[in-house]
Amino acid sequence: MKITVIGTGYVGLPTGVGLAELGNDVVCLDIDENKINTLKSGKVTIFEEGLEELFKKNTENGKVRFSTSFAESIPQADLVILAVGTPPNPITKEADMKYIKAAAESLAHHLQGYTVIAVKSTVPVNTGTAVENIVRQVNPTAEFDVISLPEFLREGFAVQDFFNPDRIIVGANTQRARDLIAELYAPFKDKSTILYVSRQSSETIKYASNAFLAMKIQYINEMADFCETSGADIYEVAKGMGLDSRIGAKFLVPGPGYGGFCFPKDTNAMAYMGKFNGVDLSLIETTIKSNERRKINMAKRILDMVDDVKNPTIAVLGSAFKGGTDDCRESPALQIIEIMLAHDVQIRLYDPQAMDNTKAILKDMITYCNSAYEAIGGADVLAVLTDWPEFKELDLSRIKQLMKRPQIADYRNTFDCTEAKNLGFEIKSLGRKL
Ligand code: UDX
Repeated sequence: MKITVIGTGYVGLPTGVGLAELGNDVVCLDIDENKINTLKSGKVTIFEEGLEELFKKNTENGKVRFSTSFAESIPQADLVILAVGTPPNPITKEADMKYIKAAAESLAHHLQGYTVIAVKSTVPVNTGTAVENIVRQVNPTAEFDVISLPEFLREGFAVQDFFNPDRIIVGANTQRARDLIAELYAPFKDKSTILYVSRQSSETIKYASNAFLAMKIQYINEMADFCETSGADIYEVAKGMGLDSRIGAKFLVPGPGYGGFCFPKDTNAMAYMGKFNGVDLSLIETTIKSNERRKINMAKRILDMVDDVKNPTIAVLGSAFKGGTDDCRESPALQIIEIMLAHDVQIRLYDPQAMDNTKAILKDMITYCNSAYEAIGGADVLAVLTDWPEFKELDLSRIKQLMKRPQIADYRNTFDCTEAKNLGFEIKSLGRKL
């Protein structure tokens, strides 16, 4: 099948390369000339486990190409996937549809033959209808269907999630569009459920799922806080809860709050849609507030550990919003660093992948280190804010020798509390017996 994917970001690029790997002829289209030139030069523009190998293989065999031209990329396509950004409006937090609308208008001019236009970006309910109206208006004779094809990729697992989707949700109102998608995802029919629903239901499933997952994370974070006051252990509690199939064991890991470009954006967008439609989505609104409060609380806990030190040095491990990615968008780690920088502190940071993205935001406000141990050297307190697996391999004895004071704020529960205490550390963590 000939496919054009519009948008080469965290969703578009893995999707385009993945579809090429399935044997389709793919063009990845973006208006960002720099990004396309980088991709054309053979350099992957995002860090994702396993993406580089697939990217190289499918660019070398010509299954995926890159372009900035709608005129070149749309006419031959059987399927056009919209994977452009829907950033939050800074004031209302509603999803900004300018990129979706611009892409719909640009592609409409070049449609030839029957084409399915699939909106993969996370968009407000009824966006499919808006896109349909734009295309119809620009090109009244075009033969097309607009469907909703939401993405459920997790950053850091984009390739794994692409080839092992729990489910494929298709919001399509015509059989012809459903048949094309059935052909596209035929390779997955034995290992995934393809669910056909209305376009509006598909658009709602995406938001409802992300908002629920965000709420589940904040729920376990609040349970962790409760465990700290009751002597319970959050991992025992999470294990006991997770054995109930109605709850499920995943997404019950406490942390400094949820981040990334999706959960914060999607919970705010859903809350906005509720307000706009006059529906009380109080659980989602409470989740948003709880998450904001948590990051402030985490920063305060770290600062309290060094409130007796003038101009303390804080070593921070991790600035990405989670381990496995270089993405710092809405990163709790970054927000906690920014809160602490409002106080008289020195911050030394190490993150395995997110240093460049962090420098673009914090510039020279902190010290950037080339290793965890370099960041830890001379620190009054060590704060672990991103769950990078490599941090679990650090040697606590060596950390103790390097630090000015043996204090750890372990907000990703990276270290063994007992081992740390036996070495003489004061260690604070989340929801664990100390
Ligand atoms: C999320 C959804 O999981 C994915 O389905 C959707 O397509 C995009 O948004 P992503 O934002 O990449 O994916 O990251 P995810 O792995 O869901 O984590 C989001 C945030 O929640 C991170 O800050 C992570 O550290 C945090 N988290 C996640 C927890 O604190 N505890 C958990 O148990 C899981």
